[in-house]
Amino acid sequence: MGAVQRLEADRVLVLHLPFEPIPLPDVLDPQGFAHWTTAASDASWMVWFYREATRPRTRASPASDANPRTSPHTVVCDVRGLKPPQPMLRVLNALIGRGASAGMIALVIDHLYLIVTGAGTARRVPGLLSQLAQLGPRLVVIPTPNAARVVAAREMVLALPPDSLHRVVESYFDEAILPSPPFGLVLVAPCSFDSLNKLATGIADNLALSVVAEAIGRGTPVVVAISVNAPLWNHPRARASAAALREWGVDVIDPTPVGDVITMAPDDVLIDRVRGRLQSP
Ligand SMILES: Cc1cc2nc3c(=O)[nH]c(=O)nc-3n(C[C@H](O)[C@H](O)[C@H](O)COP(=O)(O)O)c2cc1C
Repeated sequence: MGAVQRLEADRVLVLHLPFEPIPLPDVLDPQGFAHWTTAASDASWMVWFYREATRPRTRASPASDANPRTSPHTVVCDVRGLKPPQPMLRVLNALIGRGASAGMIALVIDHLYLIVTGAGTARRVPGLLSQLAQLGPRLVVIPTPNAARVVAAREMVLALPPDSLHRVVESYFDEAILPSPPFGLVLVAPCSFDSLNKLATGIADNLALSVVAEAIGRGTPVVVAISVNAPLWNHPRARASAAALREWGVDVIDPTPVGDVITMAPDDVLIDRVRGRLQSP
């Protein structure tokens, strides 16, 4: 709502909805926002919000202005086909995408992404999934192509609770991430040397890393649990990559010693970190 209030005087927020959003004007009108609602030919609704001072010349005819639907100043949200509360989440996320940071408005996290890379500790992922699936948000697991050398997608699917909304996604065209991946908390676990350095240098050459890169760019929460052996952790590039990610606001979990080797931090450390970020994104 803070971002709605930042709507500048010459801007219009257009919502395209499958229903008339009775409560929304009730909330925004007392705050100085005017609106009008039009029924579209396909039985959906369009609601136009603007600051009272910028009332268009003809209230009944938004088209009399220079086409606000195509104006770069207009935020258009098509939420037809979504079930509540998804329409409101889509609106808030669109506003974040327009430049308001996640800290300015409350980011409601209803998706949790687990990005799995090809480190040996990907074998722990099936065990991790049953715990992540209980945290509340819809879990979307996205392995890198190289993760398949360590853990099979089938094994991860079988580790998810049956008949749940949780999904393992390997394709850009999976319904769980269309038309674009919903905003959510991103956990990269395990994060290999390869993926760590790609993320820190802005390389996103697969679906899994694209989801992480977009979250970093957007400023929504990202947790990266590094899983490398001692020589790779002592590689100057790995340390520089971890530092770069931290500077960009990523929550980086260093590998931890187990006996005389180092490995990805224990599952309970990862779960606690995710739970904390879900409570305060
Ligand atoms: C069985 C196995 C275990 C591996 N363990 C690790 C590891 O712990 N850490 C790591 O950085 N790479 C490890 N690798 C190498 C990565 O798979 C390799 O660097 C790959 O390019 C990572 O790609 P990705 O980050 O896109 O998944 C392992 C490879 C195999 C086959």
